Amino acid sequence: MSNNKNDVTMDKIVSLCKRRGFIFSGSEIYGGLANAWDYGPYGVELKNNIKQRWWRKFVLEREDMVGLDAAIIMNPETWKASGHLDNFSDPLVECKKCNSRFRSDELLRRAHLGKVQILPLDHELQRELLIKEKITCPICNSVSWSEPRQFNLMFKTFIGPAEKSSNIAYLRPETAQGIFVNFKNVMDTSRPKLPFGIGQIGKAFRNEITPGNFVFRTREFEQMEIEYFIAPPKKDKDWQAAFEMWRQEIINWMKELGLDVKHDIYELNVPDGERAHYSKKTIDFEYKFPFGQKELYGLVYRTDYDLKQHAEFSGADLSYTDDKGNKFTPHVIEPSLGVERTLLAALCAAYNEENLTQPHPSPGQGKIETRVVMKFPPWLAPVKIAVFPLLKNKPELVKKAKAVFDLLKKDYACEFDDNGNIGKRYRRQDEIGTPYCLTVDFDSLKNGDLTVRDRDTMKQERVKIEKLGEWFRGKLK
Ligand code: GLY
Repeated sequence: MSNNKNDVTMDKIVSLCKRRGFIFSGSEIYGGLANAWDYGPYGVELKNNIKQRWWRKFVLEREDMVGLDAAIIMNPETWKASGHLDNFSDPLVECKKCNSRFRSDELLRRAHLGKVQILPLDHELQRELLIKEKITCPICNSVSWSEPRQFNLMFKTFIGPAEKSSNIAYLRPETAQGIFVNFKNVMDTSRPKLPFGIGQIGKAFRNEITPGNFVFRTREFEQMEIEYFIAPPKKDKDWQAAFEMWRQEIINWMKELGLDVKHDIYELNVPDGERAHYSKKTIDFEYKFPFGQKELYGLVYRTDYDLKQHAEFSGADLSYTDDKGNKFTPHVIEPSLGVERTLLAALCAAYNEENLTQPHPSPGQGKIETRVVMKFPPWLAPVKIAVFPLLKNKPELVKKAKAVFDLLKKDYACEFDDNGNIGKRYRRQDEIGTPYCLTVDFDSLKNGDLTVRDRDTMKQERVKIEKLGEWFRGKLK
């Protein structure tokens, strides 16, 4: 058996996702919609497992956290106060020959100019660099660039039937602001003591200039964000302690996901001039995706910027009073995780191709077969247990297998499959990462047991049906 882990390509991931119903092109019957993706039966299970695990780990299992679910469309004043109306933009440059549009900073970075120096923010300088370095248009290969202009990434819409400027609203570009504007509500109702955090999972929208790389950068996506409030730091080490605690939590989370943190994760300390407008310190956790090393998660020290801005713009008192009567505006550490990027990294990490040699009487003559197996950690697998009757046309086997399925489905995501030979059924479950396959055979009718086949080792053992609950509690709970 050999394992070609390094052969993971995006073509293979995209093809598996489509073939097995993880992810489809959005609106496919109408020719699709560029960079929109729909999550199929196994994809939605993967997403739900990610979100539920995150919620359990970071909200339910921590005494210093509570949850929230704020509206997507917020009062537009929010975005004035947060700075997103003025600052949440990317430099857009147009090729004067073919009119294609790109992010000028990305064009420069792609040519590795961003690695050696901080990119100049000045647009004329960016344009000069594009021309001086002969950066060609990725579409038509010419070097004919307009001056970049700042393009705001927020999606605009109108509230109500009249499309006038006073009715403009925005789809939120980050879930974080829903947390900041509810700071007082949570304080007044939950009365938490600092340090404490508020977690939220929800959709966010960005009108990206260059989306792409499958579900890596899309205009509609889901975030799992925490705003973790701390007392104003007297010294740097005060906020650094909370920052480090969350850094470790993110590393632990990535390990739980099955990522090879040592080899596939790179921590980038984002330099001055490249951080978001609210950030005093940002670490990007980059993952080695098949298309290159790209940002997976962000950890940011947002200071008291957001609460102070909202207090000023709204007039609300967003301060905190400690046990000694000291009143102040808390500072905040923000671990920000995207659901789709989590899912994509987990898919890439789990993807394995193994060459199996079929048994043959003459040594070395067996046919080689490749099995694709998704080695998801069991908690993440969309199906935990598949149940098969050995033969479809033997009613007593089917009946017994159905009874086993009915028994286990109450506690685990299970699938019943009686279609095709057992080998094919194993391969189908391997491709979706099912950790265990159970087969009811003729011995099961006599002995009340069945075979349990392990996805990774492909070893089989016989387990009594009455002991299955206990057996899986040890493995899957
Ligand atoms: N809240 C941080 C971000 O959306 O990037």
